[in-house]
Amino acid sequence: MQEKIIILDFGSQTTQLIARRLRELDTFCEILPYNRFPVGDESVIGVILAGSPYSVYDPEAFKVDLSQFINRIPVLGICYGAQFISHTLGGRVEPADSREYGRANLGTVDTECPLFHGFEPDSQVWMSHGDTITALPQGFHVVASTGSVKFAAYQADDKPVYGVQFHPEVAHSLQGTLLLRNFVVDICGGHQDWSPRNFVETTVQELREQIGQDRVILGLSGGVDSSVAAVLLNRAIGRQLTCIFVDHGMLRKNEFCNVLHDYECLGLNVIGVDASEKFFTDLDGVTEPERKRKIIGRDFIEVFDAEARKITDAKWLAQGTIYPDRIESLNITGKVIKSHHNVGGLPEEMHLRLCEPLKWLFKDEVRRVGRQLGMPEHLITRHPFPGPGLAVRILGAITREKVRILQDADDIFIQGLRDNGLYDQVWQAGAILLSEVRSVGVMGDERTYENPIALRAVTSSDAMTADWARLPYDFLAQVSNDIINKVRGVNRVCYDISSKPPATIEWE
Ligand code: XMP
Repeated sequence: MQEKIIILDFGSQTTQLIARRLRELDTFCEILPYNRFPVGDESVIGVILAGSPYSVYDPEAFKVDLSQFINRIPVLGICYGAQFISHTLGGRVEPADSREYGRANLGTVDTECPLFHGFEPDSQVWMSHGDTITALPQGFHVVASTGSVKFAAYQADDKPVYGVQFHPEVAHSLQGTLLLRNFVVDICGGHQDWSPRNFVETTVQELREQIGQDRVILGLSGGVDSSVAAVLLNRAIGRQLTCIFVDHGMLRKNEFCNVLHDYECLGLNVIGVDASEKFFTDLDGVTEPERKRKIIGRDFIEVFDAEARKITDAKWLAQGTIYPDRIESLNITGKVIKSHHNVGGLPEEMHLRLCEPLKWLFKDEVRRVGRQLGMPEHLITRHPFPGPGLAVRILGAITREKVRILQDADDIFIQGLRDNGLYDQVWQAGAILLSEVRSVGVMGDERTYENPIALRAVTSSDAMTADWARLPYDFLAQVSNDIINKVRGVNRVCYDISSKPPATIEWE
């Protein structure tokens, strides 16, 4: 049985970060809505109550029945979680004189408290709360304070219940990871047994049991998630797995051939389908971004479905869904909203059962599993690429000629990033063809009137926000020169210096 920590979600934006930190500590954890604690689940070795946008006094504040876990397993409250425990058990929580936000130092810290073993004097932490604890419940004592927050951390006298009003999960809490390690390992008795190697061994075993002799189909996109899912399944069930890789004609230059070749080298049983004609026909004259997406999505399902039906005895549809695709996050009204789920939308009458071997992994864990499986590094570190491909990077109607121009420009940019050791420093990069804009230029003795290309490269740590990458000027100059000289139809190159928000990563 895989031991785990439960993180109860009260709506804070940093809840996922707690989970990421625990996984970095080789500890399996699961985020659940505050009211879904799995009572009776013997594999749960500890629980963390996370932060919340609410004050404990708000009538709509999320409440949880503490008797489900206190006196049974160790408990750690973080920020709202700490205030909620204190408030519920008879302590006092009041609005702080001024909002406590930003860096602070633990001027006093009891390093005898198991949570703070190994802490240095004046350890920096990150505060972010409007309320503050002004009295602890009976049977609790303070274990850390800052200059302005007396009860920065507390502990129960006779049971493993702890609370911290700061956020150990954020990087500004310099010993936050040590605190979480102390909780998970020393207090909960965790074994730090969640490693890529264990994951691969256990998952291969489970997949064999789950699938038996059945046949499975999987749609490959060239991206890291579906590729790792395929290799994992291939290890478990070999030729019972058939992968389908659809070329909609708007992939990067040579991408279809290269990726297909990579897959074949990995020993995958893969069918490559060139369906570009259908996509180009259906997209003819379409300029509106969401319509492009809809048409591509619909055509993709049709093509995939037609291929999948040829495997008449398939019982399973495998997908590279990862944990962030599935986490049920709370919105401010307390309703659970399901975030996007990348189910392909195959017709229901196919009666395929869903197999999602990566459904518990964060993206960085998927990459570690890929390495464990011996996959080549260039497949593992690939930038994300949108499903509709270059269709959403051509502003205006799509034609084969425009795709060719964009593929050539994009290839120069991406290859340049690789050659200059910059590829792994950016989260995502690509070129955009402003096909409805023409500007004047001069080449040799001739006047040109052609399209501009925009280059976009962004950095991101969470995929939700992004900043434009500060690429070296000399590099940009070289790429610009190469594109204008080598790609016919382009006479001007711009670099996009917008961050997200307010801009998005893709232009459409
Ligand atoms: P935006 O443009 O919203 O993109 O900042 C965020 C991430 O999502 C990718 N993206 C898509 N991926 N289908 C996809 O599969 C789409 O329609 C789509 N639109 C954007 C984008 O490349 C970035 O990684």
